[in-house]
Amino acid sequence: MSNKVIDVKDLKKNFSDNSNIIKAVNEVSFSVNESDIMIVFGRSGSGKSTLLHLLAGLEIITSGQIKFENYTFQDLTLDELASIRRTNIGFVYQFHHLIPEFKAIDNAAFPLLLNGHSKEVAYEKSRQILTKFGLEKRLFHKPNQLSGGERQRVAIARALIHDPKFVLLDEPTGDLDRETAQEVREMLKDFMINSKSSLIIATHDRSFEEISDFQKTMDSGSFI
Ligand SMILES: Nc1ncnc2c1ncn2[C@@H]1O[C@H](COP(=O)(O)OP(=O)(O)O)[C@@H](O)[C@H]1O
Ligand SMILES: [Mg+2]
Repeated sequence: MSNKVIDVKDLKKNFSDNSNIIKAVNEVSFSVNESDIMIVFGRSGSGKSTLLHLLAGLEIITSGQIKFENYTFQDLTLDELASIRRTNIGFVYQFHHLIPEFKAIDNAAFPLLLNGHSKEVAYEKSRQILTKFGLEKRLFHKPNQLSGGERQRVAIARALIHDPKFVLLDEPTGDLDRETAQEVREMLKDFMINSKSSLIIATHDRSFEEISDFQKTMDSGSFI
């Protein structure tokens, strides 16, 4: 039985640039069920990042709706959205955005500490998830001591550690070579076998079709 996690209707986000209005997201509608992997393709500037930022509650919606459980994002403030994000949402950026002074294990543990878990619980879970992602020998390395693929695996571990209901990945392999990108895709696929999280992945990389349940393509802010 399908279990709807996110429902999006007629979503719009405009930016104003001097006297012009940029319709970054324009009348986008879709829904995502539990454990789905949805891929959003589209060339640069088509609106993928803006869509992900709206779904993460990082931007205020211009019009339309995002429903997640009993929350309607268009009715909430950025502070309220931040609190939903901390407990329910994971975000992976193209360029990892890890904290440079923190070791891998600190970076991945961070969301649990923010959510009020004890250090013991947060660090044990961080060790487990990094080990699962093949990083057991890199727990105490800082980001600048890791390869690009390892850094991205830490960033994904950090996004998944609090068992979010959904995870948004913005060009997660955009900065990786082909082989490393393949490893990251395989890792996500393996992780999803036992996970109830839903993934929404924005990418140019057609290879993501292999792991997707469904795909959309964006052009000028709309799904085509
Ligand atoms: N903060 C912003 N202010 C003004 N324009 C923006 C802003 N963010 C994105 N845009 C514009 O919105 C459009 C979509 O951008 P973006 O969502 O980043 O696309 P993509 O991630 O597919 O490359 C582009 O025309 C971009 O210049
Ligand atoms: Mg983008």
